[in-house]
Amino acid sequence: MCFVPKKQYFCIMISSFGTQLERWYEANGRDLPWRRTQDPYLIMLSEFILQQTQIVQGLSYYLRFAERFPTAQSLAEASEEEVLRLWQGLGYYSRARNLHKATQKITEAGSFPQDYSFVRALPGVGDYTAAAIMSLAFGKPYAVLDGNVQRVLARHFGITEPIDTTQGKKLLRALADELLDRQHPALYNQAIMDFGACLCKPTSPLCVTCPLAETCVALKEHQVDKLPVKAKRTAIRDRYFTYIYTRTEDRKVLLQRRGSGDIWQGLFEFPMIESEKPLTMAEVEKVLPFKEVRGRLLLVASNIRHQLTHQRLHADFYCLTLPFADKQAKGQWTEEKALDRYALPRLLEKLLERLTNSFVH
Ligand code: ADE
Repeated sequence: MCFVPKKQYFCIMISSFGTQLERWYEANGRDLPWRRTQDPYLIMLSEFILQQTQIVQGLSYYLRFAERFPTAQSLAEASEEEVLRLWQGLGYYSRARNLHKATQKITEAGSFPQDYSFVRALPGVGDYTAAAIMSLAFGKPYAVLDGNVQRVLARHFGITEPIDTTQGKKLLRALADELLDRQHPALYNQAIMDFGACLCKPTSPLCVTCPLAETCVALKEHQVDKLPVKAKRTAIRDRYFTYIYTRTEDRKVLLQRRGSGDIWQGLFEFPMIESEKPLTMAEVEKVLPFKEVRGRLLLVASNIRHQLTHQRLHADFYCLTLPFADKQAKGQWTEEKALDRYALPRLLEKLLERLTNSFVH
C-alpha cells in the first residue's frame, strides 16, 4: 500500500509545514552551544560528533574539542594520536580520523570555502553533514535529510514507500527540498531536526501536544507506529574476541595497535585472538606464544557483549601475569598506570572500568 494524499491537501500541508515547525522550534528548541556560533569549523565539529552520538553524550566532547582545538588549523596540526585520545569513549573512531583529515584540507584551502562541492568532498562528509554545514554556517538553501527528518516526513505526509529503497529515498529527497524554507534554511533545518528528536520521536511520539497534528496523515490514518517503513533488516554479524591482558609482575602491560581494514583502526588493544566461536581456556593456553602460560592465565570476564552498527561482539577477557616483559612479544610494553594515555576501543574501556577494583589496579 502506498498512501499518497490528495494533491490539493498536499499543497496546503506543504505551505504551512515549515512555518509551524519554525514556530514550534522558536518556543521549544534546545539551546545548544553549536547553535550560538556560525563558525563553520565548530558547526562541522558538532556534526561529526553527532553523526552517531546522542546530544547528551556528545555535548561534553564538543566542549572539550572546541576548547583544545578552537580552530580548524589547531586540530589539523595535532597528531592523530592526540585527536583519537580526545575522542576516546565516543566510538566510531573513523569519524575522528576523518575530522582530522577534513581540517587539514580546510587549512590547506586557507579558509573554510563556502562551496557545497568542496564541503561534500571532505572526508566523512555525506549529503546530510554537507547540507547541515552549508545551511547552519553559511545560510545556504540545502535541506538536511537524516533519520529524524525521514521519520517526520514519512509520518506527516503518510509516505509508505520504504525509506531505504532508491524510490523511497528519491521521494523523500524531493519532498525535503520542496519543504525547505529558502529564506531561513538554518532555522528550518534546526527546527525539523529538533522536532524529530524531541517530539516526533521513534517511539512514544508526543502527538497529543503536536502543533502539526491536524495535518498529520499518519495520525489520521493510525499509522504513526508503522511509519517510516524499512524494506531490509540489516544483517548483524557475531564476532568472538578473546583478550589477554598480558602484564608483568612489575606492572607493565602489552599493547598492540590495530591496523587498517577492520573496526577500530589505529586504536590500541591488548593481545586478542578472534575465533569462530568462544574459546575454552585450554584452547587459549595452546595458542599463546609465551612459555609457561599454564596456571598463570585467569579468566576475569566472559561473554561481554558490545554492539556496533552491523556487528555484535562477544568478548572474553583473561589476565596473564608473566615474571618479566618478553622482548619478543608482538606490540609494546607500557606502564600499567599510563594506560589512560592510549586510545582504546570503548569495549576495552568498559572492561577496565568494571575491573578497576579487582585485579587491574
Ligand atoms: N543531530 C545532528 N546534528 C544536529 C544538530 N545540529 N542539532 C541537533 N541535533 C543534531
